[in-house]
Amino acid sequence: MAHVLVTGGAGYIGSHACKALKAAGYIPVTYDNLSTGWQDAVKFGPFERGDLLDRGRLDEVLAKYQPIAVMHFAALSQVGESMAHPDLYWRNNAAGSLCLIEAAVAAGCLNIVFSSTCATYGDHDNVVLDESTPQQPINAYGASKRAIEDMLRDFGVAHGINAVIFRYFNVAGADPDAEVGEFHRPETHLVPVILDAIEGKRPALTIFGTDYDTPDGTCIRDYVHVCDLVDAHVLGLEWLLEGKGSRVFNLGTGHGFSVREVMNEAQRVTQREVPHSEGLRRAGDCTKLVSGSTRAEAELGWRPQRSTLSRMIADAWRWHQSGHYDA
Ligand code: UFG
Repeated sequence: MAHVLVTGGAGYIGSHACKALKAAGYIPVTYDNLSTGWQDAVKFGPFERGDLLDRGRLDEVLAKYQPIAVMHFAALSQVGESMAHPDLYWRNNAAGSLCLIEAAVAAGCLNIVFSSTCATYGDHDNVVLDESTPQQPINAYGASKRAIEDMLRDFGVAHGINAVIFRYFNVAGADPDAEVGEFHRPETHLVPVILDAIEGKRPALTIFGTDYDTPDGTCIRDYVHVCDLVDAHVLGLEWLLEGKGSRVFNLGTGHGFSVREVMNEAQRVTQREVPHSEGLRRAGDCTKLVSGSTRAEAELGWRPQRSTLSRMIADAWRWHQSGHYDA
């Protein structure tokens, strides 16, 4: 069976990708420095501890497994943190990815599936966000991811890298078997923050801003189930292995939900109250990010199966209530 190097395989999305890769007949090799990931989440293939900026370690691991492709998830991914500490984002995300891409080229591993983000688009009032929308990020996180996209393009021209770039919208939910799930410390993402508030693990949800130009004043996002998202990655890998070349795909459902709508749905699904308060806007937040593209469906044959708000919250809730989450 062929190996796939999964950077960030101990993290939320990376660990779900490892499960999907194993199910599809590949051996996922997790490469992770455990700065935000968890070794307990590495369940579906070998684990190699290492940092993206450690070129010697990358060379060693690439030589050991000779992967047919790299799935590159390892990154810092908090919009708020990126505004306060842009240095971390430029070093870990941008410089780290440069080191990885150079190592992959040197090892002759030219297929890369990259997790980018809709945060690269920035704020576009009433514009449908498709893959041709100009990328004007308004936070350092989005800027660092756009830089990596540019790197992949340039290395494609110069060194033959083939990259499938996925621009994620908001990822939520968990493995329905609760083998892996979302586990950030500290947690900042909306759905797990809501569930923590319900369970009393934090005093309350703070709604960041109620004066946005949206129907209920709170930000709108397009939520996609993590299992659907990683299914797209397996399709992206196969796209590359079939020699179809570099391509960018949005991964979202095209349906937007406000912070209040997500909160209300969580109350309905869990039958529990969400303690909450209204707070100030969070720096770097866009008003509305909703995908306006069907390219992934049309070209990759991607069909999200589980990306309803109720299903995402129910699966995340199951994971929260599993012993793993509190471990
Ligand atoms: N929110 C709150 N209170 C909280 C947490 C979040 O009101 O305690 C709001 C945010 O202000 C935002 C929405 O809920 O309006 C979603 O926030 P998240 O932090 O869950 O997600 P982001 O939209 O900030 O960012 C996420 C990922 C990024 C990705 C981005 C694309 O973290 O990697 O989605 O929108 F790029």
